[in-house]
Amino acid sequence: MTETLSIYLYDENLNERAGKLASNLNIPLVRDIPREKESFKLCFGEGKVFLQGGGMELVPDFTDLSDRVKPGRLNTEVLVKACKIKGDNNTTVFDATAGLGEDSFILAAAGFNVILYEKDPVIYELLLNSWERGRKDPKIGAILSRMHIYSGDSTEALSMLTEKPGVVLLDPMFPERKKSGLIKKKFQLLQKLESPCDDEEGLMAAALKGAGKRIVIKRPAKGPDLAGRVPDFSYPGKAVRYDCILINS
Ligand SMILES: C[S@@+](CC[C@H](N)C(=O)[O-])C[C@H]1O[C@@H](n2cnc3c(N)ncnc32)[C@H](O)[C@@H]1O
Repeated sequence: MTETLSIYLYDENLNERAGKLASNLNIPLVRDIPREKESFKLCFGEGKVFLQGGGMELVPDFTDLSDRVKPGRLNTEVLVKACKIKGDNNTTVFDATAGLGEDSFILAAAGFNVILYEKDPVIYELLLNSWERGRKDPKIGAILSRMHIYSGDSTEALSMLTEKPGVVLLDPMFPERKKSGLIKKKFQLLQKLESPCDDEEGLMAAALKGAGKRIVIKRPAKGPDLAGRVPDFSYPGKAVRYDCILINS
């Protein structure tokens, strides 16, 4: 984390979750404070978990992605193409770098079962809460039921799987962060939590061990290969590309 985070509680119904996180992170849980958006904090309020700081607010919400999952749109998603395995209509994707689960949501909307692992406890809390809220929404609840969210390091989880998923998806934070002017303002708050991946080799080794058929890696369009591993093929895009590594079983 690049900036000190506080945890604020505005909704006593979320007391248990907020208290547990604060104790895990060994920081105080702040209550009864005037509302302001300047200081960097994770808020538990009105049934929602969200980030605030520098006058901005990030409330993760899967309904923001509704346009991308409209009929006809999904087949144009390069990520969906990259994860599709011929002759397998019931593929499980293991998202080893879940973040706020946007890529997983697109995949779940396209019919994949998705297992998500997020190692950062704060990002996990944001992800879990937006999933819980979304599950109650009749428009996206069924999509979210195909997403199974876990807190923890995916490299450990991948080495302990009893059944291999068809695809392992990797999207570790790229070392060269996007210039703040180039990303949506509210996502600048998320960047304060994420550190660039410091173990590309470990992530790649775990994926090679855990994937049944394919590893799909999201990279900046012109970024280097993850862990220096040359992919079998790639799906290029304007801003990002998807590298695919085939597993020979
Ligand atoms: C660039 S973000 C992923 C964004 C995601 N693809 C999305 O669509 O929202 C990378 C995330 O992977 C997480 N991460 C990195 N290494 C991980 C690991 N070994 N296990 C679990 N999560 C990891 C980071 O904490 C961060 O939240």
